[in-house]
Order: sequence, then C-alpha cells, then structure tokens
Amino acid sequence: MRQRLFPYVTELAAEDLPAYVYDLRDLREHAAAVRAALPERVQLFYAAKANSDPLLLDVLRDHVDGFEVASGGELHHIRTTCPGTPIAFGGPGKTPAELGQALLAGVDRLHVESEQELHQLTGMLGERAVDVLLRVNLPIALGPVALAMGGRPSPFGLDPGHLDRCFALVSGDPRIRLRGIHVHLASGLDAAAHLDLARQVLTWARGWADRHGTELSEVNLGGGMEVDYTRPDRRFDWAAFGAGLRRLLEGHPDLTLRIEPGRSVTAYCGWYVTEVLDIKRSHGHAFAVLRGGTHHLRTPAAKQHDQPFTVIPDDTWDRPWERPRAEDEPVTLVGQLCTPKDVLADGVRAERLRVGDRIAFALAGAYAWNISHHEFLMHPAPRFHHLDHVSVPVGSHP
Ligand SMILES: Cc1ncc(COP(=O)(O)O)c(C=O)c1O
Repeated sequence: MRQRLFPYVTELAAEDLPAYVYDLRDLREHAAAVRAALPERVQLFYAAKANSDPLLLDVLRDHVDGFEVASGGELHHIRTTCPGTPIAFGGPGKTPAELGQALLAGVDRLHVESEQELHQLTGMLGERAVDVLLRVNLPIALGPVALAMGGRPSPFGLDPGHLDRCFALVSGDPRIRLRGIHVHLASGLDAAAHLDLARQVLTWARGWADRHGTELSEVNLGGGMEVDYTRPDRRFDWAAFGAGLRRLLEGHPDLTLRIEPGRSVTAYCGWYVTEVLDIKRSHGHAFAVLRGGTHHLRTPAAKQHDQPFTVIPDDTWDRPWERPRAEDEPVTLVGQLCTPKDVLADGVRAERLRVGDRIAFALAGAYAWNISHHEFLMHPAPRFHHLDHVSVPVGSHP
C-alpha cells in the first residue's frame, strides 16, 4: 500500500491537500480475505455508517451478503448506489417515515429496538409482512472495550424483560416474521473476545428460544471487530474468528449467523494526507500545525487517541529563511481550527518534521470524514482520490 500511496502523495500539489486517498485494491483484497475466512452459515453485512463512499461500496458489494444501514438517509443511499443488494435496517429512534421507507424498500431485515417501535411498525404494516430480528441488550460482562453499547444501561436494544413482551406481540401477528436475535454490544473486541461473546450470546439465545418454544434460525452478532490504532499494521484475526465460529456453529445445526462489521472492513484502505504548515514551540513544547484538522478527521478527537501517521519528507525547500523543524522530540500535531481540541496526535515522537513535509494519517477509512464537523471555520473540504479504481460496467454486478 505504502509503495503505491507515497509516490502518489508526493506528486500532489500543495493546493490539492488535504486529501483523502482510498486504496481500492487494498480494500478489495482485504474484503475478499474477510469473506474467505468466514465459514458457511455466516453472512457478512457491511455497516455502511463506517464509510459509505460510493466507490468503496461498489468494491464491497461483490464480497458481502448485504449492507446494514441505520437511517432513512443510508437506506436511500444504498438503494441508489447498490440497487438490489440486501439491506438490514437497524438503529434506535427510527421515525414513522423511516419505517415506512423500509417497508416500501422491502428491506431484508428490520432490527427492532423497542416495544414502541414494534407497535409503530404493526400499525403501518397493512397487508405487508416483514422479517425482523429483536435487538437485545444482554447482561454480559464485557471487560475493557473501546466503546460499550450494551451489557450495561444503554439506549440500544431491548432489555431481556422487555424482549418477552415484544415476543408476545410478534408471535400474535403473522405479518411479523421473527427470524431471531440481534446483538451489538461493543466496539474494539479482538477475535478471542468476540468469540467468547458469541458463545455467550448463542447459549443465551438458544435458552430463550427453547423457553418460548420458538425456532431460532438467525443470530446477528453485530460488528465491533477491533482496529488497533496503536498498531496500524496489525489486523483483526479473521482466520481465528472464522474458525471459532465454525466450531460454534457445529453445536447449532439449524442456525445462520450474521455479522455486520464496519470499522474493521474499511479503516485500513483510507489515508488522510496533508502537509506541515508551521512548526512552533510554546512553553518548551513543539507543535506542528497541519493544513486541515479534526474537521476532516475527527477520529482521534472522538476516540481520544493519537492517529497513527507516517512522515513523507519533502526536500524542495527554497525559501530564504531557516526551515522550521522539530527533531527527535515530542511533537503535537494539530489542525487549523481555533480550539485546543483540534489535536490529531499528542506529544508523539517524530524523528524529523519540517514545514512542507507531508503527513499521511493511516486508518482513516472508517468513521473519519463522515463523522467530522466539516463546516466549522469554513476551511476548504479535502479532495478524494481512489487508487486502483476499476470502473465496472453498469449492470455487471450480480
Ligand atoms: C448496530 C451496529 N452494528 C454494527 C456496527 C458497526 O460497528 P463497527 O464499525 O465497530 O464494526 C455498529 C456501530 O456502531 C452498530 O451500532
């Protein structure tokens, strides 16, 4: 990847920065490897919220069973960019209009998050039928994770007690076809932790289904596969995860699993590339001020981490004054915003950093541009580049 990225970045003019560079070949190979690692009876849905860039979706649609969306906007976007691809619609706080849109679009699954939502849905169905999963917030101890969305009080999904009430509503209405259970409890789980969670979820779901005398044909284990921002070259162990799921499924011969990862699918293919505008010292500490900032790449501010980066040296300095630099010392990489929170990496050691050098931030392919507050301070938006874009004739996707 770096062999392709760095020469490309060097060629970009300063006015073309900041830029997002997506390596579509990397994404294609990665998605194919993820798919290949998963056993039969495990369906792969990509969580579009991580990054719904149309060219990324176009690559992914050949490797996934469908897309998971969490709003009417995402639903519309997927319908128009990838027509015909199955869609699972989840997320809390679905409006009546969004539920209507989902029914009209004929989504593959609706993930029901509350009793109120179920009543709303029932009132709108008319003659139609819909396939649902009930999303549950199971009381499972998660240990230290990057982002917990369940296993503790949260607005996501149903408490097991409420689940029983929803089951009573669903089982009395033949238009609502209950396929099974959905969980998405945390982000940042490594393969062993995710498998342990899967085991607990399946044990619980089987017990719940048996107690209610209902068939359990599907469990969606959510996303949350770890991306380690401190080790950008290391990826989630899909081979171990796939092998573990195969073993788990041996005990559940009639069950299909679904997963819906986002971050771990697209994070690696994206780079946010920019240049050093200024280097200064303040109260003894070095700051590198970059073109752009967290209004383009909010990930480090949102997750409170240092975004991993590589310096691409630029040796074309031709100004008549001494080039500002930081050498072998802690530097804080900040953006152009008038807020102390505009920090991309805090007190990190860079061997050498000079005004005019380029910086390529890694792991910028997920929850990056699309979660950022673009309009703050009205700086220009970055440009978007797609390396190795293969244009596919319309209609050639399955
Ligand atoms: C219901 C649901 N599924 C899947 C995902 C994707 O998670 P990740 O990007 O961590 O894999 C999320 C993320 O918030 C989610 O809320």
